[in-house]
Formats: sequence, C-alpha cells, structure tokens
Amino acid sequence: MGFFGPIKPIVQAADAPAGSRLKPTLSWPHLIALGVGAIVGTGIYTLTGVGAERAGPAVILAFAIAGAVCACAALAYAELATMIPTSGSAYTYTYSVVGETLAWVVGWSLILEYSLACSTVAVGWSGYLVGWLQSAGVALPEMLLAGPHAGGIINLPAVIVSLAIAGMLMAGTRESATLNIILVIIKLAALTAFIALAAPAFDSDNLTPFMPYGFGSTVQDGSTRGVMAAAAIVFFAFYGFDAVATSAEEARNPGRDLTIGILGSMAVCTLIYMAVALSAIGAMSYLDLGNSPEPLALVLRTLGHPTASYLVALAALIALPSVILVMMYGQSRVFFVMARDGLLPPVLSRVSPRTGAPVLVTGITGVFVAAVAGFFRLDEIAELANAGTLLAFIAVGACLMILRKRAPDLKRVFRCPQPYLVGTLAILGCLYLMISLPSQTLVRFALWNVVGLAFYFLYSRSRSQALQDQTAAGV
Ligand code: ALA
Repeated sequence: MGFFGPIKPIVQAADAPAGSRLKPTLSWPHLIALGVGAIVGTGIYTLTGVGAERAGPAVILAFAIAGAVCACAALAYAELATMIPTSGSAYTYTYSVVGETLAWVVGWSLILEYSLACSTVAVGWSGYLVGWLQSAGVALPEMLLAGPHAGGIINLPAVIVSLAIAGMLMAGTRESATLNIILVIIKLAALTAFIALAAPAFDSDNLTPFMPYGFGSTVQDGSTRGVMAAAAIVFFAFYGFDAVATSAEEARNPGRDLTIGILGSMAVCTLIYMAVALSAIGAMSYLDLGNSPEPLALVLRTLGHPTASYLVALAALIALPSVILVMMYGQSRVFFVMARDGLLPPVLSRVSPRTGAPVLVTGITGVFVAAVAGFFRLDEIAELANAGTLLAFIAVGACLMILRKRAPDLKRVFRCPQPYLVGTLAILGCLYLMISLPSQTLVRFALWNVVGLAFYFLYSRSRSQALQDQTAAGV
C-alpha cells in the first residue's frame, strides 16, 4: 500500500503465459505506418486553421514545439509500454508505480482524452463533409449542420459518424493492418498534393508579421492567443502515437524498431505538419484561414484548384473515421480495465460472448461522443481532450523516472535514452502546454476531476480489486 492507495504489481510480458503472448511480427516500417495512421487526422486537416488564428504565421513554430514535447512523452511511453505491456496505458503505469488514487485521476483523464478526441475528429469530419457537399452543389439544412454555438440546432453529420463508428466497434470491427496502410497512403497523398499545389503560391508577405500575438499564451480581444496558445491546441495533432508504444510486444526487435517507429512517426508527422502549415500560411492570409471548418480545402479552392480541393476533402472524409475508430477502441479499453480493477461498475467490463467486444461501454462511449460532437465547438472540445492527454503524459514522464530510480534492474525491452532528461522535458513541456490552454478549459478540466474524485471516494475506493487482494494477502 503506497501513500496514494494500493499499488498494482507489475506484470511483465515475459511473465505472461505463452498462450497469451503476441507474436513479434512488426518491424519499424509497420510501426511508422501504425503511428502515422493513428496520428494524422483533424489536428492537421482542421486545427491548422485554429492554430493560425491563435498564433498567426508562427503556427509553424507551434507545431514544432508540440511535436518536440510529444517526442519526449513518446519515448517515456515506449519504455513503460515495453515493461508493463498490459492494457490501460498511462492509467496502468500510474497504478503500478504511484498508486490507485493518482491512477484514478489519470484514468479519468484518459476517458476525457479518448472520448473528446473522437468528438473533435467527428466535428472536423463534418466540416469537410459539408464543404464537400456544398462544392458538389448539395445544400443541407443549416440548422442541422452546427450546434447552438453557431446558430444551429445540432451537428448531425458529426453525431451520425460517431454513432456509426460505435456501432462498428460493437459489431466487433478492428483496425486492419492492410486498411491502415491504405488509409495512411490516402492521407499522406492528400497532404503531399496540398503542399505541391499550395507551395507555388507562397508569398512571403503572408508571413509578416510572423508572431502578431507574441509567444506566450495571453488573452487578447477576448480570445486566448500567442504561439503557446496555438501549440496547446495543435498538440491534438500529435497524439495517437501510443498506438505504436502499445504494440511493443509485437515488435520484432523492440529496442531498435520502437525507437525508430516512435521517433520516426513523430518526425514524419512534425515535418509534414510544418510543411502543410507553411504552405497554407504562405498561400493566404492567416486571418482568412482561422475560421474555416475545412482550411486545407479552402486554400485549394481559393487558389483555383476546385478538383484538388474536392479530392483533398474526399481523402479527409475517407480517412478521418479511422482515427475515431482507434480512439474509441482505446476509450473502451480504458473503461474496461478500470471496471476490471473494481473502480467502475463491473457491468462495464462485460464483453459480448459472440464478438468479444465490450458492447455496453462502447455504446455508452458512442452516445457521449455523439452528444458532445453534436452540440459543442470544435476548439473547445479539442482543448479539453488535450488537457486530459497532457495530464496522462505528465504521469508517464514521472513514472518513467520513478521506476528507473526504484527498480533500475527490472528488465527493460526498450530503454529510453537519457531518461531523466527526457522525463523532465516531457513533464515541463506538458505543464507549459497545459497552462497555455484557455482558463475556461482548465476550469472545466478541474470540474471533471472533482466529479471523478467524488465518484472514486464514494464508490470505487471501497470496491477496488487491488485493495481486496492486498487485504486478503494481509499486506
Ligand atoms: N492526432 C489525431 C488527430 O489529429 C487525434 O486527429
């Protein structure tokens, strides 16, 4: 029993019974494809515009900062994922390293990360759908295309895509490696085409002033602006790399392949993001990009490439739902593990005997994701998802360092280089991004955790499986 409640024993991959070990079949090109597949989504396709509105042309710098912080967190993630490869990621690491109460806070934050990331991508998808249909001459009733914040009633396309993906997961759909490769090719081809068409229109006048709102995050004219404010939102564009870290058990040569897979997918994404942002900002004024629900399509249309604009939007429409699939899958696994640990009602860990899918939690998640996507603003949802993710990354950085100190001889399949430096940079970077979020987001995040902790102390603590195990063992 630690200061923060019971601690779960570490279950290493080598301890798992042979029958439940996964086959090591993946090498670094697969891992990079997996990472890029989970990472590239609404962050670059839509939030580039929001970032430009907050930072001006320096949104390019915002992508570099967020990418660097994520690279540190990703390295920490990889070491822990290879040591503690059971599902639940940051929640499970915190449970095994610090204790249950903090693990609860991290798990509760992961719920926010995964579910709101799904809602964000659903709203981003809806923006591209509406623009795409309009350019094809199809007009839909405006009331059904946006939530009340934008004068509508409900963002129906975002609701429909959320429920459709939840339905697919309930029916037992998994990501398939082949489909992932196809989607990665579609996404990257669209972004490459965008760069190729937008870059020739580059006008350096569009880059001045470079930092019209300064570096630090401050409130200007009622909105949070500055390079850090933009970094705190475009941070959304980078997560999903935990997909690579959690595939550690399946890597052929984890030490080398995971380092290349994680850093490679981070580097590929950061470079592409910066190139896309530079091309978009260079092609038109950041003031015009900011409010568009489909900024990349807008740039191409404005430059007189209607067909390319149509195809880039189509690529977004085809590829973005897979990001929702991955995130919703992650969400149901976190719920599932927390319920199995006794911290959430056991009914949530029930799986369908036919498909093996956790049907009830996926259904609940789908309805929650759809409700948020239907009624709330894209940037506000993304920021709250980011707050949850940043907390999880801070926990991962801390767990990396604590475990190096406490158990230096534990077998590490992948060793993070310079763990204390990387862990400290991950924590400080995430903290800086966190305080750069709008204060309203931080208040909402605090409220979410107050509700969570109330639930923990009123319900979960006395039902914890780890507590019962320790009591039975007389610890
Ligand atoms: N990184 C993912 C995206 O941008 C969540 O959609």
